[in-house]
Amino acid sequence: MDDSVSADRALRLIRGGSTLRWEGDFQNARQLLAALGRRTRRVHHLNSLLIATTDYEIRLRRAPDVRRACRQAYGPPTGDRLIPLRELLGVIGAHQLRERGIYLQALDARIHPHYGVFAPTRSEYVDLVAAEPIPPTAKVAFDIGTGTGVLAAVLRRRGIAKVVATDNNPRAVACARENLAALVVSDPKVVRTHEAGNTPGAIEVVEGDLFPAGRADLIVCNPPWVSKRPRTLLDTAVFDEDSRMLHGFLYGVREHLNPGGEAWLIMGLRPRDELLTLFRKAGLRVVGRSSVVPTHRRARVDETTDLWRLCPSDAAPFVEEA
Ligand SMILES: C[S@@+](CC[C@H](N)C(=O)[O-])C[C@H]1O[C@@H](n2cnc3c(N)ncnc32)[C@H](O)[C@@H]1O
Repeated sequence: MDDSVSADRALRLIRGGSTLRWEGDFQNARQLLAALGRRTRRVHHLNSLLIATTDYEIRLRRAPDVRRACRQAYGPPTGDRLIPLRELLGVIGAHQLRERGIYLQALDARIHPHYGVFAPTRSEYVDLVAAEPIPPTAKVAFDIGTGTGVLAAVLRRRGIAKVVATDNNPRAVACARENLAALVVSDPKVVRTHEAGNTPGAIEVVEGDLFPAGRADLIVCNPPWVSKRPRTLLDTAVFDEDSRMLHGFLYGVREHLNPGGEAWLIMGLRPRDELLTLFRKAGLRVVGRSSVVPTHRRARVDETTDLWRLCPSDAAPFVEEA
């Protein structure tokens, strides 16, 4: 398939079950994909325009060098590979974001998200964590589902002596370790801070499901907000199938809190009633809430991002019989 094909014909072929291997100019392929995007929203159709690569090299006119971006996303090259152009553009975009980083006021530093790791581009929730009063006796904090490590870094920067961060996605663990190592001077497992006038503390990043061993005075979690089945690697950072992480966090957190400790849940896009019912069932009571109105273009009119401060209630957790 080359530059002579029209978008209408390409779409007819795709709808007829064909995949199109592009042999024309790379930039024209981008234009064709944009034209297809104006005609269909079906992801399967848009993923049917393929680019041939050999060890991640594209041998087409005006093609960019995507070798580094592809190595970061897919690992070492394995010879010939056809990649949907739509996916390839995502890989290129992710690589650019990783190189450039995202500046966060709360850290006065840049965070560099890896491919497939939740990127703090909408950073209102980071500001919430940076502004919320830290319980005065808090010495140890957990950051559950750390992603890029951004919240662990904020907590450490706010003076918590020891932060243990977890994630069940190995890409996130590698990403958090790299970011935290760049923010301070470290070995990859235990990051020792070198803040002037501060006793050296530590941030540890652990791969695992939800909680690390032991207990903490403050446990922070920003689970994916949307309860939907992830279909791709990229979805896993934003979709929480059947609210598994949210439920696992709420039902498990009591057992990991030191006496007098607090759990902070960051949430958007969920009806408050639903959350309040869940808190009650999990044996948690609300001791505070801070909210911020998201500023991004696609925010709904009444959308807020909330930081819920929770403590164990007197009632034990219970699960209702179905
Ligand atoms: C919405 S992202 C938040 C990332 C980061 N805390 C932040 O605020 O930018 C949710 C993270 O939770 C992780 N995650 C999902 N399920 C998990 C589980 N069962 N245990 C640990 N981490 C999990 C995902 O891999 C993802 O990195």
